[in-house]
Amino acid sequence: MSPIRLVLGGATGKTGSEVARHLVQEDGFEIVGAVGRSLAGGDLGGLLGEGRLRGIPLSASVSEIGAQADLYIDFTQAEAAVSLATEALTKGLRVLIGTSGIDSEAASRLAQEAARRSLAVAIIPNFALGSLLQRRMALELGRRYGRVEVVEGHHIAKRDAPSGTARDLRDRLEAEGVAVAVHAIRIAGLLARQEVWVGGVGEVLTVSHEVTSRRAYGPGVAMAARRLMAVSGFFTDLAELCPELLAQD
Ligand SMILES: NC(=O)c1ccc[n+]([C@@H]2O[C@H](COP(=O)([O-])OP(=O)(O)OC[C@H]3O[C@@H](n4cnc5c(N)ncnc54)[C@H](OP(=O)(O)O)[C@@H]3O)[C@@H](O)[C@H]2O)c1
Repeated sequence: MSPIRLVLGGATGKTGSEVARHLVQEDGFEIVGAVGRSLAGGDLGGLLGEGRLRGIPLSASVSEIGAQADLYIDFTQAEAAVSLATEALTKGLRVLIGTSGIDSEAASRLAQEAARRSLAVAIIPNFALGSLLQRRMALELGRRYGRVEVVEGHHIAKRDAPSGTARDLRDRLEAEGVAVAVHAIRIAGLLARQEVWVGGVGEVLTVSHEVTSRRAYGPGVAMAARRLMAVSGFFTDLAELCPELLAQD
């Protein structure tokens, strides 16, 4: 089978560079282009000091990439992600977005554009398996305790607060009638952590998920990318896109 030819937006960033390092060693993927603003014109491998990524050109936009591609993956920032994803859809690429902070109006414009072209777009708040498991536990705890406190902490460079993961969890809990409050912390020294707290008479229960390396996201990105090639429509849930992730034996 021919590999999925992909363009990676934000490839020089903290998350995009880890995703590039992961995808280049996964079977079935070929990175044919990368997008990044400030270092555009460079070679991704040279910029990241990563031999396996040599020969991948870094451009300022998706439109500038000459190579044929099937999929655009984005880890940039919200405004850029919407405009780069729109360019990608216009070129006939499917789109997988990890970037957070995209508002619902922009998301629905992307969904409409994908539907018009019979393509697929996914905006996934968190690609780490542990985060999905925590969400499942949080929903169970919410149903039992009726009220949940979500405490999320990230590094200080994170632009959006609360995080996309926390907002997604809040929406899911509220849809089930659970009272929920979200608390966001931005602090040096932390990468990404989310705690779910419930309390009852004489007891407190917490479920904590921490990302200690951005390598946590690579396998989920690869799985979602593969699945996205076989479907059309709009997705915001990694577990819906890849149900095998949470399937019980
Ligand atoms: N879904 C998930 O599981 C997950 C996990 C981790 C992070 N994220 C999200 O991923 C996003 C990126 O996070 P990060 O920490 O990796 O950020 P980062 O280190 O600041 O990297 C951002 C990247 O986007 C590029 N970029 C920014 N604006 C651009 C534009 N207008 N055109 C082209 N490229 C542009 C930057 O290139 P220049 O510096 O050259 O502009 C850089 O390569 C955030 O929204 C974060 O919340 C999601």
